[in-house]
Amino acid sequence: MLVCSCNFISEKEIVDVINDLLDQDRWQLIVPAKVYHAMEKRGRCCGCFPNVVDIIIRTTERYHAERHSTDAEIFDFMIRLKQFHEDNRRADIERRQKSNRAA
Ligand code: FES
Repeated sequence: MLVCSCNFISEKEIVDVINDLLDQDRWQLIVPAKVYHAMEKRGRCCGCFPNVVDIIIRTTERYHAERHSTDAEIFDFMIRLKQFHEDNRRADIERRQKSNRAA
């Protein structure tokens, strides 16, 4: 399934990159920009980023469920990951509102 129409990136490509990043450091916080940087791409309209965030969360949950992470480690990490993405989402909305007011 095509996730990013600007860069023609499929969900499978995104999942593969996320798994590679988690293989390097399984507790790192992954954001869409990090995924795209690893693919040597960049967000253009960034309309796909909310979907990429959902893929990051799903893939990270699956990654840890298939490995030897404890439930407590996974729970704590997923809380931090979801909070991190929620904070970023809120900051993006505030940034857009400020730029709309300035225009
Ligand atoms: S749809 Fe992905 S950057 Fe535009």
